[in-house]
Amino acid sequence: MMRGMSPKRREGHFDRWAPRYDRSIHQKLVFGPVHEAVLGAFEAFGAVPGDILDIGCGTGRLLEAAGRRWTGARLIGIDASEGMIAEARHKHDGEVRFSFERGDSSRLPLEDASFDAVFSTVSFHHWGDQSGGIREAARVLRPGGLFVLADIRMPFLSILRPLVIRGGRSNFLPPRAVRQLIEEASLSVEAERRFWSFSSFQLFVARKPDAPEPSKGTA
Ligand SMILES: C[S@@+](CC[C@H](N)C(=O)[O-])C[C@H]1O[C@@H](n2cnc3c(N)ncnc32)[C@H](O)[C@@H]1O
Repeated sequence: MMRGMSPKRREGHFDRWAPRYDRSIHQKLVFGPVHEAVLGAFEAFGAVPGDILDIGCGTGRLLEAAGRRWTGARLIGIDASEGMIAEARHKHDGEVRFSFERGDSSRLPLEDASFDAVFSTVSFHHWGDQSGGIREAARVLRPGGLFVLADIRMPFLSILRPLVIRGGRSNFLPPRAVRQLIEEASLSVEAERRFWSFSSFQLFVARKPDAPEPSKGTA
C-alpha cells in the first residue's frame, strides 16, 4: 500500500500549497515547460480534441494552456486535493468550459469513453494505485483517444530533489514499468521520450484502440 506520507497528509500538503501554487517558482522552472511538452506531444499525434481531462490537475494550469490552444474544447480537471480544486474553481467561476472535481486517479467520477484527450503531469508518482489510475485513464478515453503522461524520471541530481519533489510519497517507476502498466491497460504506446525541465522527465503518448467493427452476419 502507501509508503511514506499517508494520503491524508499528502493532500494536506497540496491543500496548503494551493493558494500560492500559481505564483510558485516551480511554474516557470518545471510545470510550464512540462505542460508545453505534453500539449505539443498530443498535437503531434492527435486531432483537435473536444473533451479534455487532466488527472491530478492542481489549480488547472495545464487545462488553461489547453483551452488557449483548443478554444472549442471542454476542460475537466480531477484532483485529490480539496485546496487545489477550490483554487481552480475560484479562477474559472462562471466559465462553462471548465469544471473541476475532487477525486482520486484510481476511481475517476467520470463516464466511460467520454474524453478525446487524457493528460497527467507531475502527479503519477504520488498515486497510491498507479496501475488502477492508468486503467481509469483508459476507461474514460474514447476509442482512438490519447493518454499523455509526463512525470519526473529518477534518478536525477540529488541536490535538486528537495526543490522538485513536494508532497511526500513518491513512487518513481522506471520507464519500462510505466510502459508495461500502459500496455496492460490495453493502450498502445505511440511515443516515449525523455526531456529536461529542471529535472529529467519521461513522457508517454498512448492511444486507446478503435472499437472493432461489429461483425456482419453471412446470411
Ligand atoms: C505537483 S502537483 C502537479 C499539478 C498539475 N498536474 C501541474 O502540472 O501543475 C501534483 C498534484 O497531483 C495531485 N494528486 C496526487 N495524487 C493524486 C491522486 N491519486 N489522484 C488525483 N490527484 C492526485 C495532488 O493533489 C497535486 O495537486
